[in-house]
Amino acid sequence: MKVMVIGGGGREHAIVKKLKENKTITELYCLPGNGGIARDAVCVPIAAVDLDGIVSFALEHRIDYAVVAPDDPLALGAVDRLEAIGVDCFGPRKNAAVIEASKVFAKDLMKRYGIPTARYETFDRMEKALAYLKTVPMPAVIKADGLALGKGVIIAKTLSEAEEAVHSMMAEKRFGRSGERIVIEEFLEGPEISVLSFTDGKTIVPMVSSMDHKRAWEGNTGPNTGGMGAVAPNPYYTPEVAKRCMEAIFLPTIRAMAQEGRSFKGCLYFGLMLTKDGPKVIEYNCRFGDPETQVVLPLLESDLFTVMRAVSEEQLAECPVRFSKASAACVILASKGYPGAYEKGFPISIPAGLDAEVFVAGAKEKDGGLVTSGGRVLGVTALGKKLSDALDRAYKAVKQIDFENAYYRRDIGALALAAKED
Ligand code: AMP
Ligand code: GLY
Repeated sequence: MKVMVIGGGGREHAIVKKLKENKTITELYCLPGNGGIARDAVCVPIAAVDLDGIVSFALEHRIDYAVVAPDDPLALGAVDRLEAIGVDCFGPRKNAAVIEASKVFAKDLMKRYGIPTARYETFDRMEKALAYLKTVPMPAVIKADGLALGKGVIIAKTLSEAEEAVHSMMAEKRFGRSGERIVIEEFLEGPEISVLSFTDGKTIVPMVSSMDHKRAWEGNTGPNTGGMGAVAPNPYYTPEVAKRCMEAIFLPTIRAMAQEGRSFKGCLYFGLMLTKDGPKVIEYNCRFGDPETQVVLPLLESDLFTVMRAVSEEQLAECPVRFSKASAACVILASKGYPGAYEKGFPISIPAGLDAEVFVAGAKEKDGGLVTSGGRVLGVTALGKKLSDALDRAYKAVKQIDFENAYYRRDIGALALAAKED
Protein backbone atom coordinates (compact mmCIF):
# COMPACT_ATOMS: atom_id res chain seq x y z
CA MET A 1 0.00 0.00 0.00
CA LYS A 2 1.13 3.51 -0.80
CA VAL A 3 0.12 5.93 1.89
CA MET A 4 0.51 9.68 2.24
CA VAL A 5 0.09 11.85 5.31
CA ILE A 6 -0.81 15.51 4.77
CA GLY A 7 0.76 17.96 7.23
CA GLY A 8 4.16 18.70 8.69
CA GLY A 9 4.19 19.07 12.47
CA GLY A 10 4.77 17.00 15.59
CA ARG A 11 1.32 15.47 15.29
CA GLU A 12 2.08 14.25 11.78
CA HIS A 13 5.39 12.83 12.98
CA ALA A 14 3.54 10.81 15.62
CA ILE A 15 1.06 9.57 12.99
CA VAL A 16 3.87 8.64 10.56
CA LYS A 17 5.81 6.75 13.24
CA LYS A 18 2.73 4.76 14.19
CA LEU A 19 1.78 4.00 10.58
CA LYS A 20 5.30 2.67 9.99
CA GLU A 21 4.50 -0.24 12.31
CA ASN A 22 2.18 -1.63 9.63
CA LYS A 23 4.13 -3.83 7.26
CA THR A 24 1.57 -3.67 4.43
CA ILE A 25 2.59 -0.06 3.88
CA THR A 26 5.36 -0.24 1.29
CA GLU A 27 5.67 3.47 0.55
CA LEU A 28 5.00 6.25 3.06
CA TYR A 29 4.99 9.91 2.06
CA CYS A 30 4.46 13.09 4.04
CA LEU A 31 3.39 16.37 2.37
CA PRO A 32 5.19 18.58 3.22
CA GLY A 33 6.58 16.86 6.34
CA ASN A 34 9.68 18.34 7.98
CA GLY A 35 13.35 17.61 8.66
CA GLY A 36 12.57 15.07 11.38
CA ILE A 37 9.71 13.33 9.58
CA ALA A 38 12.12 12.87 6.65
CA ARG A 39 13.83 10.14 8.69
CA ASP A 40 10.61 8.11 8.78
CA ALA A 41 8.82 8.94 5.52
CA VAL A 42 9.58 10.45 2.13
CA CYS A 43 8.83 14.17 2.51
CA VAL A 44 7.56 16.04 -0.54
CA PRO A 45 7.54 19.85 -0.62
CA ILE A 46 3.83 20.30 -1.35
CA ALA A 47 1.97 22.52 1.10
CA ALA A 48 -0.89 20.98 3.09
CA VAL A 49 -3.32 23.53 1.61
CA ASP A 50 -2.19 23.03 -2.01
CA LEU A 51 -5.07 20.73 -2.93
CA ASP A 52 -4.22 20.74 -6.67
CA GLY A 53 -0.64 19.77 -5.84
CA ILE A 54 -1.79 17.01 -3.47
CA VAL A 55 -4.22 15.55 -6.01
CA SER A 56 -1.58 15.57 -8.79
CA PHE A 57 0.92 13.89 -6.49
CA ALA A 58 -1.61 11.21 -5.52
CA LEU A 59 -2.37 10.46 -9.18
CA GLU A 60 1.25 10.44 -10.22
CA HIS A 61 2.35 8.14 -7.39
CA ARG A 62 -0.79 5.96 -7.41
CA ILE A 63 -1.46 6.64 -3.74
CA ASP A 64 -3.90 4.15 -2.15
CA TYR A 65 -4.66 5.92 1.09
CA ALA A 66 -4.35 9.42 2.53
CA VAL A 67 -4.41 10.67 6.10
CA VAL A 68 -5.33 14.36 6.13
CA ALA A 69 -4.21 15.66 9.51
CA PRO A 70 -4.49 19.50 9.71
CA ASP A 71 -7.70 21.55 9.90
CA ASP A 72 -7.08 23.80 6.89
CA PRO A 73 -6.97 21.17 4.13
CA LEU A 74 -9.92 19.35 5.74
CA ALA A 75 -11.94 22.57 5.80
CA LEU A 76 -10.98 23.24 2.18
CA GLY A 77 -12.27 19.81 1.10
CA ALA A 78 -9.06 17.79 0.65
CA VAL A 79 -10.89 14.55 1.43
CA ASP A 80 -13.64 15.28 -1.11
CA ARG A 81 -11.01 15.98 -3.78
CA LEU A 82 -9.01 12.83 -3.03
CA GLU A 83 -12.06 10.58 -2.83
CA ALA A 84 -13.14 11.92 -6.22
CA ILE A 85 -9.97 10.41 -7.74
CA GLY A 86 -10.45 7.12 -5.89
CA VAL A 87 -8.10 7.63 -2.93
CA ASP A 88 -9.51 6.38 0.37
CA CYS A 89 -8.97 8.87 3.17
CA PHE A 90 -8.84 9.17 6.92
CA GLY A 91 -10.50 12.49 7.72
CA PRO A 92 -13.90 14.13 7.39
CA ARG A 93 -15.30 15.59 4.19
CA LYS A 94 -15.70 19.34 3.93
CA ASN A 95 -19.34 19.29 5.00
CA ALA A 96 -18.38 17.53 8.25
CA ALA A 97 -15.11 19.43 8.87
CA VAL A 98 -17.36 22.47 9.36
CA ILE A 99 -17.81 21.26 12.95
CA GLU A 100 -14.41 22.87 13.57
CA ALA A 101 -14.27 25.35 10.72
CA SER A 102 -17.34 27.25 11.92
CA LYS A 103 -17.88 27.85 15.62
CA VAL A 104 -21.33 29.22 14.81
CA PHE A 105 -22.21 25.92 13.12
CA ALA A 106 -20.87 23.92 16.07
CA LYS A 107 -22.72 26.00 18.66
CA ASP A 108 -26.01 25.90 16.74
CA LEU A 109 -25.67 22.12 16.31
CA MET A 110 -25.20 21.68 20.07
CA LYS A 111 -28.18 23.91 20.80
CA ARG A 112 -30.44 22.06 18.35
CA TYR A 113 -29.50 18.63 19.70
CA GLY A 114 -29.28 19.50 23.42
CA ILE A 115 -25.54 18.84 23.75
CA PRO A 116 -24.14 20.58 26.86
CA THR A 117 -22.05 23.66 26.06
CA ALA A 118 -21.60 27.25 27.27
CA ARG A 119 -24.61 29.55 26.72
CA TYR A 120 -24.02 31.84 23.75
CA GLU A 121 -25.29 34.18 21.07
CA THR A 122 -23.89 34.69 17.57
CA PHE A 123 -23.50 37.99 15.75
CA ASP A 124 -22.69 39.26 12.29
CA ARG A 125 -23.26 42.95 13.16
CA MET A 126 -20.93 44.74 15.52
CA GLU A 127 -23.56 47.11 16.99
CA LYS A 128 -25.69 44.15 18.09
CA ALA A 129 -22.70 42.37 19.59
CA LEU A 130 -21.69 45.50 21.53
CA ALA A 131 -25.24 45.99 22.82
CA TYR A 132 -25.43 42.35 23.92
CA LEU A 133 -22.16 42.62 25.86
CA LYS A 134 -23.79 45.20 28.16
CA THR A 135 -26.32 42.55 29.23
CA VAL A 136 -23.99 39.67 30.15
CA PRO A 137 -21.73 39.06 33.17
CA MET A 138 -17.94 39.27 32.85
CA PRO A 139 -15.68 37.48 32.13
CA ALA A 140 -17.16 36.73 28.71
CA VAL A 141 -15.63 34.71 25.92
CA ILE A 142 -15.47 36.15 22.40
CA LYS A 143 -14.74 33.76 19.54
CA ALA A 144 -14.16 34.38 15.85
CA ASP A 145 -16.34 32.05 13.78
CA GLY A 146 -13.68 30.60 11.51
CA LEU A 147 -10.27 28.97 11.81
CA ALA A 148 -7.75 31.33 13.40
CA LEU A 149 -4.82 29.06 14.32
CA GLY A 150 -6.32 28.55 17.77
CA LYS A 151 -5.95 32.25 18.47
CA GLY A 152 -9.46 33.44 17.70
CA VAL A 153 -10.63 33.11 21.30
CA ILE A 154 -10.46 36.04 23.70
CA ILE A 155 -11.43 35.79 27.36
CA ALA A 156 -12.44 39.29 28.37
CA LYS A 157 -12.36 40.07 32.08
CA THR A 158 -14.06 43.45 31.83
CA LEU A 159 -16.65 45.07 29.60
CA SER A 160 -14.07 47.32 27.99
CA GLU A 161 -11.82 44.34 27.19
CA ALA A 162 -14.82 42.58 25.68
CA GLU A 163 -15.73 45.62 23.59
CA GLU A 164 -12.16 45.86 22.39
CA ALA A 165 -12.16 42.16 21.43
CA VAL A 166 -15.36 42.54 19.42
CA HIS A 167 -13.98 45.62 17.74
CA SER A 168 -10.68 43.94 16.86
CA MET A 169 -12.49 40.99 15.26
CA MET A 170 -15.37 42.75 13.50
CA ALA A 171 -13.99 46.19 12.62
CA GLU A 172 -10.22 45.76 12.46
CA LYS A 173 -10.61 42.20 11.09
CA ARG A 174 -7.72 40.94 13.18
CA PHE A 175 -8.53 37.36 12.19
CA GLY A 176 -9.52 38.27 8.63
CA ARG A 177 -12.77 36.81 7.38
CA SER A 178 -12.83 34.39 10.35
CA GLY A 179 -14.08 37.28 12.47
CA GLU A 180 -16.94 38.43 10.25
CA ARG A 181 -19.22 36.41 12.47
CA ILE A 182 -18.54 35.94 16.15
CA VAL A 183 -19.80 33.94 19.09
CA ILE A 184 -20.12 35.54 22.52
CA GLU A 185 -20.37 32.90 25.20
CA GLU A 186 -20.55 32.33 28.89
CA PHE A 187 -17.23 31.83 30.71
CA LEU A 188 -17.00 28.31 32.10
CA GLU A 189 -14.72 27.10 34.85
CA GLY A 190 -13.21 23.72 35.61
CA PRO A 191 -10.45 21.40 34.48
CA GLU A 192 -10.12 20.83 30.74
CA ILE A 193 -10.11 17.39 29.17
CA SER A 194 -9.26 16.48 25.60
CA VAL A 195 -10.85 13.35 24.18
CA LEU A 196 -9.88 12.30 20.68
CA SER A 197 -12.08 9.65 19.13
CA PHE A 198 -12.21 7.41 16.12
CA THR A 199 -15.57 7.51 14.40
CA ASP A 200 -16.95 6.16 11.14
CA GLY A 201 -20.16 8.15 11.51
CA LYS A 202 -22.03 5.29 13.19
CA THR A 203 -19.70 3.96 15.87
CA ILE A 204 -17.53 6.14 18.09
CA VAL A 205 -14.50 4.85 19.97
CA PRO A 206 -12.92 7.37 22.36
CA MET A 207 -9.15 7.16 22.64
CA VAL A 208 -7.34 7.50 25.95
CA SER A 209 -8.11 10.95 27.43
CA SER A 210 -5.46 13.65 27.66
CA MET A 211 -4.67 17.11 28.99
CA ASP A 212 -3.15 19.88 26.89
CA HIS A 213 -1.14 22.81 28.31
CA LYS A 214 -2.08 25.74 26.10
CA ARG A 215 -0.45 28.65 27.93
CA ALA A 216 3.14 29.56 27.16
CA TRP A 217 4.41 29.94 30.72
CA GLU A 218 4.47 28.00 33.93
CA GLY A 219 1.44 27.99 36.22
CA ASN A 220 -0.81 28.26 33.13
CA THR A 221 0.08 31.91 32.57
CA GLY A 222 1.15 33.85 29.51
CA PRO A 223 -0.23 33.84 25.99
CA ASN A 224 -2.09 30.94 24.36
CA THR A 225 0.05 28.68 22.19
CA GLY A 226 -0.58 25.66 20.01
CA GLY A 227 0.20 23.62 23.14
CA MET A 228 3.32 23.33 25.32
CA GLY A 229 2.87 19.76 26.45
CA ALA A 230 0.36 17.05 27.16
CA VAL A 231 -0.25 14.12 29.44
CA ALA A 232 -2.46 11.04 29.14
CA PRO A 233 -4.64 9.77 30.62
CA ASN A 234 -6.35 12.82 32.13
CA PRO A 235 -7.05 12.09 35.83
CA TYR A 236 -10.28 14.12 35.72
CA TYR A 237 -11.71 11.76 33.12
CA THR A 238 -13.05 9.17 35.56
CA PRO A 239 -15.15 6.21 34.36
CA GLU A 240 -18.22 8.11 35.56
CA VAL A 241 -17.31 11.24 33.56
CA ALA A 242 -16.51 9.03 30.55
CA LYS A 243 -19.96 7.43 30.72
CA ARG A 244 -21.65 10.81 30.95
CA CYS A 245 -19.63 12.10 28.00
CA MET A 246 -20.52 9.10 25.88
CA GLU A 247 -24.24 9.44 26.60
CA ALA A 248 -24.65 13.21 26.61
CA ILE A 249 -21.96 14.36 24.18
CA PHE A 250 -20.16 11.78 21.99
CA LEU A 251 -23.07 9.72 20.69
CA PRO A 252 -25.45 12.71 20.36
CA THR A 253 -22.77 14.54 18.34
CA ILE A 254 -22.17 11.83 15.75
CA ARG A 255 -25.91 11.16 15.51
CA ALA A 256 -26.57 14.88 15.04
CA MET A 257 -23.97 15.07 12.27
CA ALA A 258 -25.47 12.02 10.52
CA GLN A 259 -28.95 13.49 10.90
CA GLU A 260 -27.77 16.71 9.26
CA GLY A 261 -26.37 14.75 6.29
CA ARG A 262 -22.84 15.50 7.45
CA SER A 263 -21.71 12.08 8.62
CA PHE A 264 -18.33 12.52 10.32
CA LYS A 265 -15.58 10.02 9.55
CA GLY A 266 -12.11 10.40 10.97
CA CYS A 267 -10.82 11.70 14.30
CA LEU A 268 -13.34 13.84 16.14
CA TYR A 269 -11.74 15.77 18.98
CA PHE A 270 -13.82 16.89 21.96
CA GLY A 271 -12.41 19.81 23.94
CA LEU A 272 -14.31 19.48 27.21
CA MET A 273 -14.56 21.40 30.44
CA LEU A 274 -15.59 19.58 33.58
CA THR A 275 -17.87 22.17 35.18
CA LYS A 276 -19.77 21.78 38.41
CA ASP A 277 -22.80 20.95 36.24
CA GLY A 278 -20.92 18.18 34.46
CA PRO A 279 -18.86 18.01 31.28
CA LYS A 280 -19.52 20.64 28.60
CA VAL A 281 -18.12 21.05 25.11
CA ILE A 282 -15.67 23.95 24.73
CA GLU A 283 -14.83 23.12 21.15
CA TYR A 284 -14.84 20.42 18.53
CA ASN A 285 -11.86 19.78 16.28
CA CYS A 286 -12.23 17.75 13.11
CA ARG A 287 -8.79 16.17 13.48
CA PHE A 288 -6.13 14.85 15.83
CA GLY A 289 -4.98 17.46 18.37
CA ASP A 290 -1.43 18.67 18.63
CA PRO A 291 0.27 17.87 21.06
CA GLU A 292 -2.37 15.42 22.37
CA THR A 293 -1.59 13.01 19.52
CA GLN A 294 2.00 12.81 20.76
CA VAL A 295 0.78 11.22 24.01
CA VAL A 296 -2.28 9.35 22.75
CA LEU A 297 -0.84 7.43 19.79
CA PRO A 298 2.20 6.09 21.69
CA LEU A 299 -0.33 4.43 24.03
CA LEU A 300 -2.30 2.84 21.16
CA GLU A 301 -1.64 -0.90 21.16
CA SER A 302 -3.77 -1.69 18.11
CA ASP A 303 -2.44 -1.11 14.63
CA LEU A 304 -3.24 2.48 13.63
CA PHE A 305 -3.53 1.82 9.90
CA THR A 306 -5.99 -1.05 10.52
CA VAL A 307 -8.15 1.22 12.68
CA MET A 308 -7.98 4.07 10.15
CA ARG A 309 -9.10 1.79 7.35
CA ALA A 310 -11.93 0.44 9.49
CA VAL A 311 -13.04 4.07 9.91
CA SER A 312 -12.99 4.85 6.21
CA GLU A 313 -14.73 1.56 5.36
CA GLU A 314 -17.37 2.21 8.05
CA GLN A 315 -16.45 -1.02 9.83
CA LEU A 316 -15.27 0.46 13.11
CA ALA A 317 -17.78 -1.60 15.14
CA GLU A 318 -15.87 -4.72 14.02
CA CYS A 319 -12.42 -3.36 14.79
CA PRO A 320 -10.85 -3.74 18.24
CA VAL A 321 -9.10 -0.60 19.48
CA ARG A 322 -6.87 -1.14 22.50
CA PHE A 323 -4.86 1.31 24.56
CA SER A 324 -2.13 0.58 27.08
CA LYS A 325 -2.89 1.23 30.75
CA ALA A 326 0.38 3.14 31.08
CA SER A 327 0.74 6.95 31.23
CA ALA A 328 2.41 9.21 28.70
CA ALA A 329 3.89 12.69 28.96
CA CYS A 330 5.01 15.02 26.19
CA VAL A 331 7.11 18.14 26.82
CA ILE A 332 7.39 20.63 23.98
CA LEU A 333 10.75 22.26 23.36
CA ALA A 334 10.01 25.62 21.77
CA SER A 335 12.05 28.52 20.46
CA LYS A 336 12.39 31.22 23.12
CA GLY A 337 9.87 33.98 22.35
CA TYR A 338 7.18 31.70 20.89
CA PRO A 339 4.26 32.37 20.35
CA GLY A 340 5.67 35.84 19.64
CA ALA A 341 8.77 36.53 17.56
CA TYR A 342 11.73 34.16 17.86
CA GLU A 343 15.04 33.42 16.16
CA LYS A 344 15.60 30.22 14.22
CA GLY A 345 18.29 28.32 12.38
CA PHE A 346 20.05 26.91 15.49
CA PRO A 347 21.55 23.41 15.25
CA ILE A 348 19.76 20.79 17.37
CA SER A 349 21.67 18.06 19.16
CA ILE A 350 19.73 14.93 20.14
CA PRO A 351 21.90 12.20 21.69
CA ALA A 352 21.37 8.60 20.59
CA GLY A 353 19.76 6.14 23.00
CA LEU A 354 17.33 8.56 24.66
CA ASP A 355 14.77 6.89 26.89
CA ALA A 356 12.01 8.82 25.06
CA GLU A 357 10.57 9.41 21.62
CA VAL A 358 11.27 12.68 19.85
CA PHE A 359 8.59 14.05 17.54
CA VAL A 360 9.87 16.82 15.32
CA ALA A 361 7.62 19.83 14.68
CA GLY A 362 9.64 22.89 13.65
CA ALA A 363 13.02 21.73 12.36
CA LYS A 364 14.59 21.32 8.97
CA GLU A 365 17.50 19.37 7.64
CA LYS A 366 20.79 21.20 7.13
CA ASP A 367 24.17 19.62 6.39
CA GLY A 368 22.94 16.23 7.57
CA GLY A 369 21.67 17.58 10.90
CA LEU A 370 18.58 19.39 12.13
CA VAL A 371 18.22 23.13 12.70
CA THR A 372 15.30 24.92 14.33
CA SER A 373 12.74 26.35 11.90
CA GLY A 374 9.59 26.98 13.92
CA GLY A 375 8.08 28.05 17.23
CA ARG A 376 7.38 24.60 18.54
CA VAL A 377 10.51 22.62 17.68
CA LEU A 378 10.34 19.18 19.29
CA GLY A 379 7.92 17.12 21.35
CA VAL A 380 9.60 14.70 23.73
CA THR A 381 7.31 11.86 24.80
CA ALA A 382 7.99 9.22 27.42
CA LEU A 383 5.82 6.47 28.85
CA GLY A 384 5.71 5.11 32.38
CA LYS A 385 3.64 2.89 34.57
CA LYS A 386 2.60 5.99 36.50
CA LEU A 387 2.35 9.55 35.23
CA SER A 388 5.19 10.62 37.53
CA ASP A 389 7.49 8.01 35.90
CA ALA A 390 6.54 9.21 32.42
CA LEU A 391 7.21 12.82 33.40
CA ASP A 392 10.58 11.99 35.00
CA ARG A 393 11.67 10.18 31.84
CA ALA A 394 10.43 12.92 29.52
CA TYR A 395 12.21 15.68 31.48
CA LYS A 396 15.40 13.62 31.77
CA ALA A 397 15.43 13.31 27.96
CA VAL A 398 14.61 17.01 27.51
CA LYS A 399 17.69 17.92 29.55
CA GLN A 400 19.90 15.85 27.23
CA ILE A 401 18.64 17.67 24.12
CA ASP A 402 20.26 20.94 23.25
CA PHE A 403 19.74 23.92 20.96
CA GLU A 404 20.29 27.63 21.44
CA ASN A 405 17.29 29.57 22.75
CA ALA A 406 15.39 26.42 23.75
CA TYR A 407 12.43 27.03 26.05
CA TYR A 408 10.15 24.54 27.75
CA ARG A 409 7.69 24.60 30.60
CA ARG A 410 8.94 22.81 33.69
CA ASP A 411 5.47 22.11 35.06
CA ILE A 412 3.87 19.92 32.41
CA GLY A 413 1.69 17.38 34.22
CA ALA A 414 1.79 19.24 37.55
CA LEU A 415 -1.97 19.82 37.57
CA ALA A 416 -2.66 16.20 36.62
CA LEU A 417 -0.36 14.93 39.38
CA ALA A 418 -2.02 17.22 41.94
CA ALA A 419 -5.46 16.02 40.86
CA LYS A 420 -4.42 12.43 41.51
CA GLU A 421 -3.40 13.28 45.05
CA ASP A 422 -6.79 14.87 45.86
P1 AMP B 1 -10.75 27.04 21.81
O1 AMP B 1 -9.87 27.56 20.71
O2 AMP B 1 -12.21 27.15 21.55
O3 AMP B 1 -10.28 25.70 22.30
O4 AMP B 1 -10.44 27.97 23.06
C1 AMP B 1 -9.13 28.10 23.54
C2 AMP B 1 -9.14 28.04 25.04
O5 AMP B 1 -9.93 29.09 25.55
C3 AMP B 1 -9.78 26.76 25.61
O6 AMP B 1 -8.91 25.70 25.68
C4 AMP B 1 -10.20 27.25 26.97
O7 AMP B 1 -9.10 27.23 27.85
C5 AMP B 1 -10.59 28.68 26.74
N1 AMP B 1 -12.04 28.78 26.55
C6 AMP B 1 -12.74 28.67 25.42
N2 AMP B 1 -14.06 28.82 25.64
C7 AMP B 1 -14.20 29.03 26.96
C8 AMP B 1 -15.32 29.25 27.83
N3 AMP B 1 -16.58 29.30 27.37
N4 AMP B 1 -15.08 29.42 29.14
C9 AMP B 1 -13.82 29.39 29.63
N5 AMP B 1 -12.73 29.20 28.88
C10 AMP B 1 -12.91 29.01 27.56
N1 GLY C 1 -4.20 20.93 21.23
C1 GLY C 1 -5.33 21.57 20.72
C2 GLY C 1 -5.49 21.52 19.27
O1 GLY C 1 -4.87 20.73 18.58
O2 GLY C 1 -6.28 22.30 18.75
